[in-house]
Amino acid sequence: MCGLIGIIGKGLDMRKELIEGLEKLEYRGYDSAGIGYVENGQPVTQKTVGQVARLKEKLSSPIKAEMAIAHTRWATNGGVSLENCHPHISEGKTWMIVHNGIIENADELRAELEEKGVHFYGQTDTEVVANLLERTKFVDPIDSIREVLKKIKGSYAIVAINKNYLDRLFIIKNKSPLYFSYDEGSVRVASDTSVFSGKNFISLNDGEFGEINLNNFKLFNKNGKINKKETKLEKTEINRKNNSNYYMIDEIHETIDVFKRINCEYKDLKIFNKFDKLGAFDEIKLIGCGTAYHSCLIGKKYLEEAAMKEINCYIASEFNAEPPKLNKNMLCIFVSQSGETADTLLAVEKARAAGAKTLAITNVPYSTISKKCKAYLPICAGREVGVASTKAYSAQVVIFYMLACHIKGVAPSLKGLISGFKFPDEEKIRELAKKLIKKRELFLIGRGEDYRNMLEAGLKIREISLVNAVALPAGELKHGTLALIDEDAIAIVLQTSQKGMEKVKNTINEISSRGGKVVFVSQFDPPCEVYDSLKLCQVPQKFMPLSSVVTFQLLAFYMTLEKNLNPDKPRNLAKSVTVE
Ligand code: F6R
Repeated sequence: MCGLIGIIGKGLDMRKELIEGLEKLEYRGYDSAGIGYVENGQPVTQKTVGQVARLKEKLSSPIKAEMAIAHTRWATNGGVSLENCHPHISEGKTWMIVHNGIIENADELRAELEEKGVHFYGQTDTEVVANLLERTKFVDPIDSIREVLKKIKGSYAIVAINKNYLDRLFIIKNKSPLYFSYDEGSVRVASDTSVFSGKNFISLNDGEFGEINLNNFKLFNKNGKINKKETKLEKTEINRKNNSNYYMIDEIHETIDVFKRINCEYKDLKIFNKFDKLGAFDEIKLIGCGTAYHSCLIGKKYLEEAAMKEINCYIASEFNAEPPKLNKNMLCIFVSQSGETADTLLAVEKARAAGAKTLAITNVPYSTISKKCKAYLPICAGREVGVASTKAYSAQVVIFYMLACHIKGVAPSLKGLISGFKFPDEEKIRELAKKLIKKRELFLIGRGEDYRNMLEAGLKIREISLVNAVALPAGELKHGTLALIDEDAIAIVLQTSQKGMEKVKNTINEISSRGGKVVFVSQFDPPCEVYDSLKLCQVPQKFMPLSSVVTFQLLAFYMTLEKNLNPDKPRNLAKSVTVE
C-alpha cells in the first residue's frame, strides 16, 4: 500500500533514479506521485495526481540534489488530490516526509495541533506527523522522533528529510515494511527491495527508527541503540518474455516455470525442517485474504486427504472479527503472496497469542508474516507485479499439494502437472471476452471444487474488467438466483470431473430454458447444446483447478483489454494491502 523511496548519492541522476524507483513501486498505489528534496536550504516538492508517468513528464529539468525522497500513493487518509500527495512539509519547513500506513489517532493529534495554531494544507495523517516532528523542538532529530513515537498509534513506514541535516535520511517503521541498502556510493531506503541494486539489504523491525547516511547508519528501538545484520538481496528481475505491455499476461505465462521451480526446490526435503519442528497438531486452519484465501479453499482438499481431518478456511478479516477457538494443538497456516497483508498479519498475531502453531506460505521470505510465523514455506513464484494475483495463486495451490504429500509421507512430485499443462487457445478466449464485456454481470457456476475455483475466477474478472462476475454453487441456482436468468443473462459453467456430467446437464437446461446463454468450460465436450465453450487442458484430476484457473485469468485479462482498461492497475486497488 503506497510505495516510498529515499536516496542519498553523489553524482547520481536523481530525476532518473527517483522515477525508476517509483515505477518499480507503482504497483503499491497509483493515485498520485511526488518527490521532495532541499534546494538552496529550502524543501521543494514536485507532485502530480495520477500515475508516475505523469510525474515523469512534469520533471523536465535535472534535480540538483544529493538526497531526495519520493512516494506513490494509494489514498487512505484524505482524498486523491494534490494537497494530499506526498511528500508533506511541516509548517515551519524543517521536516519533509513520505509515509506508508495509517496513523490511527491522527484526527485527535491534528485537533491538538490546530489548537496550537498549526495550519494544515491537506487532510493526510502524514502532514500531522511532519508537524508533530517540527513541534517537538529537540535539537537532535532522533530525540524528536523518539518523542513523536510516544504520541502516534497505527502503522507507518516513514522516510524523512530534516533541512538542517542534509547528509542523512531519517527512517521509522511500524507494521509497514521498510528496508535500506548500500550500493557503490549511494544508499536507498524503500518500502520494497525491488528498487535496490546492491548485494545486501537491511530490514527494519516494528518500533525501530534511526538515521542513515552515505557511510553509516544508526538504529534504535525503545530500549536504545541496536545492531543489524544484512540479508542477501535476491535478484528479482521480471521475466518479460513476450515483450508484452502488461505484467499480468507475462505472469500468467510464467505459471509453468513456477511449477518447475517448485518441483525443483521442494525436492530438498530440508525445506520442511521448520514445519516438522512444529510438532503434532490435531486441527488445521487456513487463513488468507482475497486470492490467497481462495487458494486455501483449493488447498484444503489436499490437506484433508493427507491429514484425514476436516479443515476450515477463514478470510483473515473475518477470523479477526470473530476469532475461532484457538489452542496450542492447532496448526494455523497463513497464506499471503506479499507476506505483508495487514489483516492476515493481525490473524497471525491472534494465533500466536493463543499459542497455536503457525506456518506461513508466502512469496517473500523476509516479509513480516514469514518472520512472525514459526515455520515458513516459500511459494517460489518470483516477483509478482500485476495487482491481480495470478501465478502466485497457482503456486500457493501447488504448495498445499507439496505440504499434503509431506504430511502423508510420500515424496512430492509435479510430474503429471508439468507434462500435461498447456495454455488454452488465447484467440478463442479473446473472442469470448468480446462478447462477455457487453454484460454488466456474469454468473459463474460450478459444484464442489469447481465452485470454489469459480470464486477466484469471479474475483479476477471483477477486479480488473469491472464486470460483476458472481460465483454460485450449481445446486443453489434454483434456490433464488434463477430469478435473474432471462434472455440477457450469460452463465459460465465449469465442470472438471466426468462424475458430475448428468447433473451439469440439468444446470445447463435450467439456464437455457429461461433463455439464458451458457458457456461451458471443461476438458470434456459439452453434454448438450450450449452458446459457447472453452476447452481445458487435461492434467491429473487433482490438478484440474490449476488448468481451469489459468483459463479464467486469461479470460479476465482479455475482457479488460477489450474494455481498454489497464489489467496491471485496476481501479481503486493496489497490491500488498498493509492497512486493515
Ligand atoms: C486479487 C489479489 C488480492 C490479494 C489479497 C491478499 O487478485 O491479489 O485479493 O490476494 O489482497 O494479498 P496477499 O496474498 O499479498 O496477502
